[in-house]
Formats: sequence, structure tokens, C-alpha cells
Amino acid sequence: MPPSPLAERFSLAGRGALITGSSRGIGRAIADLFADAGAIVGINARHAEACEEAAAEINAAGGKAVAVAGHVGSAEGCEGVVRAFLEQAGRIDVLVNNAGTNPQFGPLLDADEGAINRIWEVNVLGPVRMTRYAVSAWMRDNGGSVINMASVAGIKPEALTGAYNASKAALISVTRTLSRELGTSRIRVNAIAPGLVETRLAKVLVETPQIHDHIVGQTALGRHADPSEIAGAALFLASDASSFVTGSVLTVDGGWTV
Ligand SMILES: NC(=O)c1ccc[n+]([C@@H]2O[C@H](COP(=O)([O-])OP(=O)(O)OC[C@H]3O[C@@H](n4cnc5c(N)ncnc54)[C@H](OP(=O)(O)O)[C@@H]3O)[C@@H](O)[C@H]2O)c1
Repeated sequence: MPPSPLAERFSLAGRGALITGSSRGIGRAIADLFADAGAIVGINARHAEACEEAAAEINAAGGKAVAVAGHVGSAEGCEGVVRAFLEQAGRIDVLVNNAGTNPQFGPLLDADEGAINRIWEVNVLGPVRMTRYAVSAWMRDNGGSVINMASVAGIKPEALTGAYNASKAALISVTRTLSRELGTSRIRVNAIAPGLVETRLAKVLVETPQIHDHIVGQTALGRHADPSEIAGAALFLASDASSFVTGSVLTVDGGWTV
């Protein structure tokens, strides 16, 4: 039986979807949902074993996943990850630049320059380089969807995460800029700006009651999110359901920025 028009619109059947930082957290939730939607998903993180484990779990659950370990904080790392995914999946229709880091808490002006550089390499240059390689190797000729994992921090900066805020604001500009540059090649580029999500990256924010309550107290829903609650937005932006959406920033923040 052919899929219903509704299922078809959200389907990723036969598509290749590479998700950076997908061994756990938000990236893993996206990988699980994309595999359910029929994509062959690329699981990436620095730790190869964690990638192998996540890919094996998705395959055991009936999906299709391949492990492509690598560090997206360098040009060689990015090129290697894209190449490894293409070798195994044969195509890269969807790229989710999800890997992110925040080694420095505190005001931007107090931030160590080494930490600022590390944040910039992974959170800003990583998505630019990954997109460059994915476009030249596949998307330029075939079209595609690029999704950058920004943050509410890039829209409404909190005092605690100065350098990270600035990197996510830059990523939003990268998203808009690339949407302009790539639109006529049938490549859409969008961002998701999550609010507070319970993951290892946000452990300190979720588990410190004073910080947690300060953040969720500003949201309409009055709570933080589970990683699975971000994945639906990614599926919308990856699939044909969003065929006329590009250059947009979709906030998934429980009403933090309202
Ligand atoms: N959690 C939140 O509240 C929140 C809110 C807004 C936005 N975000 C954004 O959402 C994205 C995912 O974060 P998360 O909260 O899901 O974090 P997480 O649970 O800590 O997961 C991060 C993932 O990225 C991988 N990773 C980290 N650095 C990497 C690198 N240089 N190269 C390749 N992979 C790397 C990690 O694996 P390895 O350690 O093995 O590399 C892991 O798979 C980030 O961009 C973050 O800024 C998160």
C-alpha cells in the first residue's frame, strides 16, 4: 500500500541524514526519529564506541544507521566525517549540525580566549565546514536540507554563558547567510533554537535548582524539555513538509522567548 499523503510529506525514506553529535542527547533523539521516518542515519561524535553503540541500537530496532566518528572542531575532522558518511550511505540529503560545546561559564569579557576559540571552532566553524563539504560532495547537484542547532541563548542571552551565547547568535547568522547562498541550488538552511533540554551538556543548568527555576520561571510552559521534544521540529525541517521554509529559526523553547 502506498504511504498516505500525510506520511509521505514527513517521510525521509531512502534519504541519507548525517547528524553530528548524535551519540546522545538531542542529536540521538533526532537520529531515532529520522530512522523511524526511513532515513539511513549517520551517527557522529568524538567517541567511536558511543557511535557504534547508538548505531547498533537503531539497527536492532529496525532502522538503518552507520557510525561516523570524528571531531567537527577542525576542517580535516569535518571533511573526514562527510566522506565516511557518503562512503557508507551513498548520499547526504539532510545534514543536522547539532554537535555543540560550552566549556566556559561566565561573562564573555571574562572568558578565556582558548575556550572562546574552542567554542567557535565547534559551534560556528563546524557547521560552516560541514555544510561546505556536504554541498560540494552531494547537495549542490541534488538539493538538500541543512539544520543548525542554535539555541535560545543566541536570541536572548543569559549572563551565565557569555561566549556560548555569542556563538549561537553567530550560528543564526550563518543559517540566514547560507540560506541566501544556497537557495537556488534547492538547498534549504534553517535553525532550531531549543530552550532548556535535559542532556549532559545542560546538566549543571538542570540540576542546580536556583538556575533551573530561574530559567523555567521565564517560560510559558514552566518546565524544561526532554530531547525527544526537539526531534519533531528537526523532522519537519528535514522533510518535504517544510519545502518552502528556509532561513528560518524555529524556537522550541516552551515559550521562553515569548
Ligand atoms: N541541552 C540544552 O538545554 C540545549 C539548549 C539549546 C541548544 N542546545 C544545543 O543542542 C546541541 C546538542 O546538545 P545536547 O544538549 O544534546 O548535548 P549532549 O547531550 O552533551 O550531546 C552532545 C553530543 O555532541 C557530541 N560532540 C561534542 N563535541 C563534539 C565534537 N567536537 N565533534 C563531534 N561531536 C561532538 C557528543 O559526543 P562526544 O562527547 O563523544 O563527542 C554528544 O554526542 C548543541 O549544539 C547544544 O548547544 C542544547
